[in-house]
Amino acid sequence: MFVIITGVSRGLGNALANEYLKKGILVAGIGRNNTISHANYSFKKCDLSSWNEVENLEINFPLSTEYLLINNAGLIEPINRISDQDSDSSARIFQVNTIAPIQLIRKMSQFCPEDSKLTILNISSGAGRRALPSWANYCASKAALDMFSSAFQLEEIEKGKNTEIYSLAPGVIDTEMQSLIRASDTEKFSSKDNFLNLKKENQLLRPNDVAQKIMYNLKFNGFKDVICRL
Ligand SMILES: NC(=O)c1ccc[n+]([C@@H]2O[C@H](COP(=O)([O-])OP(=O)(O)OC[C@H]3O[C@@H](n4cnc5c(N)ncnc54)[C@H](OP(=O)(O)O)[C@@H]3O)[C@@H](O)[C@H]2O)c1
Repeated sequence: MFVIITGVSRGLGNALANEYLKKGILVAGIGRNNTISHANYSFKKCDLSSWNEVENLEINFPLSTEYLLINNAGLIEPINRISDQDSDSSARIFQVNTIAPIQLIRKMSQFCPEDSKLTILNISSGAGRRALPSWANYCASKAALDMFSSAFQLEEIEKGKNTEIYSLAPGVIDTEMQSLIRASDTEKFSSKDNFLNLKKENQLLRPNDVAQKIMYNLKFNGFKDVICRL
């Protein structure tokens, strides 16, 4: 198996990359920054907020019978109401959270040899299924990722291809994204206290635990539907 993961510099993506490497699996990271060094690891530099950079990214991975693409990189900022945002905030969030994953899925499905298996795991969010004020772009970009995944799965079934796609809400994880949420402006984000409490009550999941659970579910067919949660 060959694993490709976006957003590997920290958080869940970093944990997933390290857990797969621990199992002796070949991993390629895609992102703006790299913090991993390992004999079985390669890195492609790409700013996913740039449609052009993703479009021009060369997909030339070693030949394998099985590929796993994990669209993990995500962006939540700015956390405030749409009426108070710059005009390009929505475009940036949708590019990173929705369009870049779609670009990579298209590129991978064109790259994979006919007889290989392609599994795609999109890291979605509970926020794509439950609206929160001041997260409108984030909620909508993840909801779009969910629906894209369902439609793409139907296309691959129609084509008779050996592709599985999942759009996973991983739970609330103790990463920099949560630090940003807790550091947001209370005036601009009315639900902030909920996230402060989750941290105070020690309810955040550890990235490595989430990564291990994801790997287990992927290996043993634990995800029953395209749109799923851990
Ligand atoms: N943490 C949670 O509670 C939670 C809950 C539900 C869903 N999620 C989802 O889980 C995924 C991982 O989140 P996380 O919590 O691990 O977040 P994180 O700690 O903020 O890490 C995000 C990763 O995405 C990368 N990234 C951001 N913008 C990028 C860009 N323009 N180009 C390339 N890479 C970029 C970052 O790398 P650089 O900044 O170094 O480029 C970083 O490696 C996201 O899709 C998030 O929406 C998280």
